[in-house]
Amino acid sequence: MPKSLLVTGGAGFIGANFVHYWLGQYPEDKVVVLDALTYAGNIANLDPVKDNRNFSFVHGNICDQDLAEKLLREHDADTIVHFAAESHVDRSITGPDAFIETNIIGTHSLLKAAKKLWIDEGLKPEHRFHHVSTDEVYGTLEADDPAFNESTPYAPNSPYSASKAASDHLVRAYLHTYGLQVSTSNCSNNYGPYHFPEKLIPLVITNILFNKALPIYGDGKQIRDWLYVEDHARGIELVINKGIVGECYNIGGINEWTNIDIVQLVCKLMNDTFAEDSELAKRFPEAQAAISGDAASLITYVKDRPGHDRRYAIDPTKAEGELGYVPAESFETGIKKTLQWYLDNEEWWSKVMDGSYQDWVESQYG
Ligand code: NAD
Ligand code: DAU
Repeated sequence: MPKSLLVTGGAGFIGANFVHYWLGQYPEDKVVVLDALTYAGNIANLDPVKDNRNFSFVHGNICDQDLAEKLLREHDADTIVHFAAESHVDRSITGPDAFIETNIIGTHSLLKAAKKLWIDEGLKPEHRFHHVSTDEVYGTLEADDPAFNESTPYAPNSPYSASKAASDHLVRAYLHTYGLQVSTSNCSNNYGPYHFPEKLIPLVITNILFNKALPIYGDGKQIRDWLYVEDHARGIELVINKGIVGECYNIGGINEWTNIDIVQLVCKLMNDTFAEDSELAKRFPEAQAAISGDAASLITYVKDRPGHDRRYAIDPTKAEGELGYVPAESFETGIKKTLQWYLDNEEWWSKVMDGSYQDWVESQYG
């Protein structure tokens, strides 16, 4: 039987990729996106599905419980996939309030709406509230520590990860206290199309094209575990379809890189792409990749992020064993696809990077 999904934060990076993926896999399902269109949300991210008769978009805030109830009722929704969040660690350091508001209060409003309709009114005996969380709730690893698994104790270190941890606990409590049928996935760093250019990989790609410095925080030896965004969508699909109610699943691709190595790799791929395609130098004449063939000359070490987590790594054994989860994209192909997507979609990234965003970055990092 087709599902009816309420997807929060579907105009953001991962939410939009998830909606494209889901409607491609399940064209008979209904999908309504609820998104506040903050600086990180962009309605153009949903262009690939905008003409789909089973898709609709509602501009609104997850903190508005009445609106969430109205949407669940009107769309006869049986599934919530909850992506909406403030997601950038640096912003959580300079302005934590929005993170508390959306990530904690907003998640709680959504839980209350789901409980009211699905439990109190009994409208959907079979339902699912899927909460999209992060590996950052587990804190930081030393170089030799085993990767995070689902039993790793929570130890969040930034206001962002603390707010996500709080929301994870609320989701868990709504199962144990009220019987709401919940699941949670904790994923590692995503990359791919529609990634807002404040995050490391799209920032480096677009800064190379603008001939701007590539800021490396601290010594650049911090480690992140990168996953192509569509593989995250596949993981969430498996948890919704096959995951056990009340369980948490770690999703990742066993793909650890230091930040400096990632930045060097993107520079090399960009140099190679400029060397192969002479049109690029005409489109981006200021880029070092065009002038000297050496984008890496833009690398600039800057002050470290306060409380910067040293290493994240995900152990996906549970999702592999219980759900059959296997990432489809290799890092080699995924990063090339991503770079090509940014070269092909200059209109998208120049539109989303408006003046206020650039001003904010410069005020933080000079
Ligand atoms: P994003 O910042 O790109 O998108 C967030 C979306 O939520 C935006 O469209 C924004 O407009 C919307 N939003 C924010 N506040 C809202 C509110 N109050 N009401 C309604 N909509 C609101 O984030 P993302 O990178 O796509 O992350 C999505 C989810 O996945 C987040 O919950 C994040 O914690 C989690 N996550 C992200 C990563 C990653 O690498 N980006 C990894 C693991 C988990
Ligand atoms: O691990 C999952 C998390 O990954 C998600 O929960 C977050 O929503 C998402 O933003 C991401 O968090 P990170 O802080 O790891 O991602 P970010 O792209 O901001 O930074 C990646 C690494 O690169 C991190 O160690 C900080 C560093 N960095 C980042 C920027 C933007 C730099 O060195 N220079 C930069 O300019």
